[in-house]
Amino acid sequence: MSDSSFETELKQKVDYIEDVLKSMLPAEEGYATTVIEAMNYSLMAGGKRLRPMMMYEAYRLFAGDNAKDAVIHPFMTAMEMIHTYSLVHDDLPAMDNDEYRRGRKTTHAVYGAGMATLAGDGLLNLAFETAINGAASGEVLPEYDGETTNRYIAALKVLSSKAGIYGMVGGQCADIMAENTSITDKDELGKLLGYIDDNKTGALIESSLMVGAILGGADASQVKSLERAGRNVGVAFQIQDDILDIVGNLEELGKPIGSDEKNQKTTYVSLYGMEAATAKVKELSDEASDILKELGFEDSFLDKLFQYLIYRRK
Ligand code: IPE
Ligand code: IPE
Ligand code: MG
Ligand code: MG
Ligand code: MG
Repeated sequence: MSDSSFETELKQKVDYIEDVLKSMLPAEEGYATTVIEAMNYSLMAGGKRLRPMMMYEAYRLFAGDNAKDAVIHPFMTAMEMIHTYSLVHDDLPAMDNDEYRRGRKTTHAVYGAGMATLAGDGLLNLAFETAINGAASGEVLPEYDGETTNRYIAALKVLSSKAGIYGMVGGQCADIMAENTSITDKDELGKLLGYIDDNKTGALIESSLMVGAILGGADASQVKSLERAGRNVGVAFQIQDDILDIVGNLEELGKPIGSDEKNQKTTYVSLYGMEAATAKVKELSDEASDILKELGFEDSFLDKLFQYLIYRRK
């Protein structure tokens, strides 16, 4: 597939996801209107929609002709809500203190820090309401061979744990603790950075692939493989984010550059340099592609997406 036909397909998939999200937005009414407006403002600001896209692709690879929108749409929406909440909180003055996101003023810059905090909380809870409602009303799925045999419950377990202290929140904690760090030992810093990247960013990407696969009918060993692929592509994604924080620009990225230096973050670039970072993005993404190949998905859109992301500029 040529680059331009890939990009056309990518755009169609983004539009499709936008429609799914729009159909599940909360109504802006009642005494909670302001917080709901702030939630919808951040959710519909745009964004690459990669996590719901990866979930959908993984789902379809396993579900094939049995794919059902009613099974996967609520979980795709939940994932984008969780991701968006993580961004709203990440930008807060008490965290990275950034003014632009997805080409717009950040949620706190428009609604104030208190309302942005609540918007994040609202998105996180609505994510689980949405996924649980989907699970409660979705068709019965065949048994899963993992610890939990109900596929919806197994998916909810992944969704919740990868977003929390054993995932994204844990990574964000270590990311803050590593600002202006007094650790000087390079091996120790490398280990810490591995934890940060795998958790603050890898976890939601792992979760996206795993949830899609579980609901699509994968067995537990295939889900484990996708978790590894997600870790590789997720860490690569964060390293590329750190590269773009230096060599990107606000117009393309939709968010400010120089945020990491401003906050004295520990990143792959600060630790190993730009050249090593660029090579690592490629190496990790290729590892993720190899895992897809082992699963028999080498010509999939998902594989093309992994490779495309190596060279992303936004
Ligand atoms: C930004 O994620 C935060 C990171 C984990 C690096 P994305 O780059 O996927 O942000 P959007 O969703 O496209 O805005
Ligand atoms: C944040 O990493 C990852 C999240 C869990 C939100 P960054 O702080 O580097 O993300 P950006 O650059 O602000 O999008
Ligand atoms: Mg951050
Ligand atoms: Mg940030
Ligand atoms: Mg960044």
